[in-house]
Amino acid sequence: MNLFRRKSVTALQAEATSDNSLKRALGALNLTTLGIGAIIGTGIFVLTGEVAAQNAGPAVVLSFIFAGVASVFAALCYSEFASLIPMAGSAYTYGYATLGELIAWIIGWDLILEYALGAVTVAIGWSGYVVSFLRDVGIQVPCELAAAHGVLATGCTVPAVFNLPAVIIIAIVTLLLVVGIQESANVNSAIVMIKLAVVLLFIFAAAKAVNPANWHPFIPPATGNRGEFGWGGVTTGAGIVFFAYIGFDAVSTAAQEAKNPQRDMPIGIIASLLICTLLYIAVSAIATGVMSYKQLNVPDPIAVAADAAGLGWMSSIIKLGAIAGLSSVILVMLLGQSRVFYSMARDGLLPAVVNKVHPKFHTPYITSIVTGVVVAFFAGILPIADAANLVSIGTLLAFVIVSIGVLVLRVREPDLKRAFKTPMVWAVAPLGAVSAAYLMIRLPFETWIRLVVWFVIGMIIYWTYSIRHSNLAKVPAAAGD
Ligand code: ALA
Repeated sequence: MNLFRRKSVTALQAEATSDNSLKRALGALNLTTLGIGAIIGTGIFVLTGEVAAQNAGPAVVLSFIFAGVASVFAALCYSEFASLIPMAGSAYTYGYATLGELIAWIIGWDLILEYALGAVTVAIGWSGYVVSFLRDVGIQVPCELAAAHGVLATGCTVPAVFNLPAVIIIAIVTLLLVVGIQESANVNSAIVMIKLAVVLLFIFAAAKAVNPANWHPFIPPATGNRGEFGWGGVTTGAGIVFFAYIGFDAVSTAAQEAKNPQRDMPIGIIASLLICTLLYIAVSAIATGVMSYKQLNVPDPIAVAADAAGLGWMSSIIKLGAIAGLSSVILVMLLGQSRVFYSMARDGLLPAVVNKVHPKFHTPYITSIVTGVVVAFFAGILPIADAANLVSIGTLLAFVIVSIGVLVLRVREPDLKRAFKTPMVWAVAPLGAVSAAYLMIRLPFETWIRLVVWFVIGMIIYWTYSIRHSNLAKVPAAAGD
């Protein structure tokens, strides 16, 4: 039994060339919009206000910069892998090629936190925005069906039973993913245009109302409680707003559907991240510049900031932008999840039925539907609290492993032809691993406990099923190397 048996990179590359089951339909622009589609969402529309009011004050801008820099290091490492191993599965597949099957399983299991739980979290946020927007235009969603059991939805006095809007959005997105990758990418591009327009409108319209006095003190003095203001608040804030950057790595799960992955994967990953980083810095600076950070602790801080800037008319537009924005995050998260499951099933670590490809649509429809049903179920019954931190810690762990993996592969297989090489890899990769690990440490203790519980469940499945069904276990000659 070899827990560290690896798939060879050359075998993976050959598989990537010969395996045409998924349709190679995406170009560089599609991949960049896919990244932006996944990145801009709850993070900027909701967490900015929470972190400004509770952790960092106006220095939430610095929190965004720190989390952005950590993400750029990871993005450079992801890019090298994505251009080298253009297969669905992202970090899971890279882990299989560098660190062995056990670590690959751990990453695959971990990515469920990022993508499936990410989709659950964002669908719940989406539902909150939709219920509030519909109320603004005079439509009241029945309170019983407006949120998870026991939660009071916007404008309700009776607790809800079931989150119907969250289930509906997951069903729509799942259907789209089954119908086709090109169709999904087109819908995503249209949504991305809307949300970019809304974010830019806010930046340009509200910038005039900035009063620099609101930026003083830029870093409010620490209160003595962990993570409340001072530098500790800025770094805790970075751990929390990191959620806003999640998604650029999801681009790499679509590597097997890219027309020219060697060239376009790095473009999609890096361009989407850089564009969003600049937008986040601008939005957070303006939101804390038009009003006191103390008043930003609301569910819709950007709409409230627009109001404070004298742009009350923008409130509904911003809500619409958030609704559109969150829909595409859900889309790319579900896309990512189904591609990771697809890859794990192809390798024998999950049952083979999961990787059935639709004869007409060329999409892994069984995994898309199963993922959709499970995600919809949890989105219908779970309250949102704390899920976001668990999504972040899972993603950060994947960043740590990918950053280490790049170095391991440079040492083990220095001669592989790399279409994109992480620049200054001996500095960037360790910095990527250390900065992601540091952000993990800044997250609350309860999040760590949940992470451990999640891995215990994952290990039980690995030892009882996957280790024996792995394709590498069946072909001893290919095991290890
Ligand atoms: N980055 C995504 C968001 O903020 C997950 O919603």
